[in-house]
Amino acid sequence: VPFTDYEAAPATIAEWAQKRQDKEIALHGWKIFAAITADSGQTYAGGPVPKFATWYTEADLFNPALTPADVDSAHAGPRLPGHLLRQSGGESVISFNKYNRALRQYVLTNGYNKVETMMKLLAAKTAETADPPLDGVVLKPTYWGVKKGQATAVPYWKGPELTISGTVRPDKPTDHTWTQAVLVNDTGKPVTIQPVTMEVWPKAGPKKIQITPSKVVVPEDFYAVRLEAQDIQWLKEGKVFQFGGVPIGDLEPGDLALLVGMHVTTVEWVDWTWQTFWWTPAPEDPLGTGRPGVKPPFTNYNMASAYYQMNAGDQPHIAFNPHLEPPITGQIFHDQTQTGSHSNCMTCHRAAAFPTVNSDPNPGNALMGSYMATGTIEWNNPIFQGRVRTHNMWGLVLGTQFQPNFAALLNK
Ligand code: HEC
Repeated sequence: VPFTDYEAAPATIAEWAQKRQDKEIALHGWKIFAAITADSGQTYAGGPVPKFATWYTEADLFNPALTPADVDSAHAGPRLPGHLLRQSGGESVISFNKYNRALRQYVLTNGYNKVETMMKLLAAKTAETADPPLDGVVLKPTYWGVKKGQATAVPYWKGPELTISGTVRPDKPTDHTWTQAVLVNDTGKPVTIQPVTMEVWPKAGPKKIQITPSKVVVPEDFYAVRLEAQDIQWLKEGKVFQFGGVPIGDLEPGDLALLVGMHVTTVEWVDWTWQTFWWTPAPEDPLGTGRPGVKPPFTNYNMASAYYQMNAGDQPHIAFNPHLEPPITGQIFHDQTQTGSHSNCMTCHRAAAFPTVNSDPNPGNALMGSYMATGTIEWNNPIFQGRVRTHNMWGLVLGTQFQPNFAALLNK
């Protein structure tokens, strides 16, 4: 089924971006969020499934064994397949990407699921991959695990908006450094708020602090998934280092995965649209949009957008997800003074090209020096020389570069 109920004309989006019309941009972001979180009519583990959760993952796209005939073939795994967290070095909650059918079709019909195709484009000095479909949508949802039947303190980003505060590590404010939490009550009975011990990670290393949760909430205040045995099995196979507060090895069927954040990008026009959402106990609406069309529990998420790279004063426009980008620091950046907690989606994704700057087949090193957090990247930037631009898709770069054949083809 085509998925076009949120789409705007490319020229309209170009105008919002050029004039930095933040309210129009925010309204569009909420429209996209309303569309992708609408009920799919399907259920899983007894709960309703929003549309986005029925979509495909990396494993359904970047598997070289798939052919164009597989566009509608079944998913490779259960609903919550995970993979090694590549973006942030394994310090955060698990994350994995979701692609709608339009994107899967694009990847499989062009053969972008095979490193051989990318190497051919490279050899032919092709500047960029084929134009992606305007109705393509790509997501990066992020979950936090809690044990079933308990009341668990779950930390949240303090803000307001993207202001860095309420952390023991302002230089690297990952979700393991936040000092405020809600009590997520899965006991089915009333609970009273009492001080709890929480582990935080200041620079010197983990330590325990006492905090008083600000509020009692229930799993239904989040988009929450009861994990089934197959989900847990998949998470274990994915070698995910950590799953929120619950180590993967301790997960049992019935435990909860709470959606705490999600990157949402749509193709729609040449520069794509970039917005990100994070859970909050006190939703903010700085631009007065009213979150039109968005239904609970998705109303409990804040949003930041990046439809342009620089502000009117030629300062970087900052838009990151508190759960996803703060862990990113150091050698992964082209300019090592940059950090994920001062970044712009559009800038970093514009830098996406095959292969990565160092052409390293090893997933642990492949991105070193490839990231750009802020600044203006034009399509003719010299960093693209001798590489194939992938229309903002880092997933396509890594999904092919990490295939076993890459090293052999590179040395031919
Ligand atoms: C510093 C670099 C950087 C920044 C900043 C960044 N990303 Fe990403 N993003 C990546 C990389 C690399 C990947 C691919 C690896 C992975 O999936 O973890 C990725 C993956 C994604 C994906 C999954 C699919 C894909 O192929 O790219 C989405 C969607 C996404 N990011 C959206 C966003 C949004 C929205 C923002 C801003 C709020 C953002 N990103 C900020 C580097 C970045």
